[in-house]
Amino acid sequence: MSVIDPAAPTPAHAPEPGTPQRRPRARRYLMCPPRFFEVGYAINPWMDPGLPVDVAAANAQWEGLRQVYLDLGHEVEVIEPEPGLPDMVFAANGALVIGDRALGASFAHAERRPEAAAHRRKLEGTSGITTFVTPDHVNEGEGDFLVVGNTVLAGTGFRTRPPAHQQVEEVFGLPVISLTLVDPRYYHLDTALAVLDDQTVAYYPEAFDADGKAMLKTMFPDALIATEADAAVLGLNAVSDNYHVLLPTAAVALADQLRERGYQPVPVDLSELLKAGGSVKCCTMELHQHRSRPVAH
Ligand code: ARG
Repeated sequence: MSVIDPAAPTPAHAPEPGTPQRRPRARRYLMCPPRFFEVGYAINPWMDPGLPVDVAAANAQWEGLRQVYLDLGHEVEVIEPEPGLPDMVFAANGALVIGDRALGASFAHAERRPEAAAHRRKLEGTSGITTFVTPDHVNEGEGDFLVVGNTVLAGTGFRTRPPAHQQVEEVFGLPVISLTLVDPRYYHLDTALAVLDDQTVAYYPEAFDADGKAMLKTMFPDALIATEADAAVLGLNAVSDNYHVLLPTAAVALADQLRERGYQPVPVDLSELLKAGGSVKCCTMELHQHRSRPVAH
């Protein structure tokens, strides 16, 4: 499959006059093919171990996502999957990487714990990463840590523990904003909130407790607010390069909202992986470039 840099938005969806032209920024991602994918246990409400999965279809859909990134000019590193670790396809959970540092994951559930070592080995051998920090607390990497500009939004409530938020602040020297998730369907921050650019997010307020809702409203007064229907197809499990926003095909209203705001939605079908409770962002660990460190003179 190939993706073209999509044509200019149609007049019906033209950005508001005065909306600055958004430009994609080159990204570097890490992905893991779902070669050993299955739903053999249930650690979130999306998972039904009785439900058959089509591994070939899952691999084809995953390959489609990888191809979209490549067609858009992004770099994709691949980590080899391991038998017995069916959720390894959700590479976002393996670590948080910003600049030359990685903070390893420590999974909440025993079923996923061995993934952390595989990610450690991969990241220690990845160019550009010089420091790998061992996690002191349970954290599920970029499932619960989302970088917005020079701030890290950090989820808790189901997986990542609050002291891990503190460790992120210490390791990366960036301010961390803790947000508590309250709906088990939205068990990771990246199921309820998508980062669109350095100052814009889209989110589903009902996934957060009262403090979280208030914090998000204050921090992001211009945020896109997702509908319940879009949240319920994991529409917010999206990846943006500042202009193109890859999101699940079923999130149609969100795609319209994005177009109105001058982004280019790129729908991707990952329906097989949704059976394990994951979609675009879950499959994608971004190896973030560090933008806050002062440039040496
Ligand atoms: N089955 C996986 C789990 O429950 C899905 C992980 C999805 N990843 C994510 N970044 N939200 O852990």
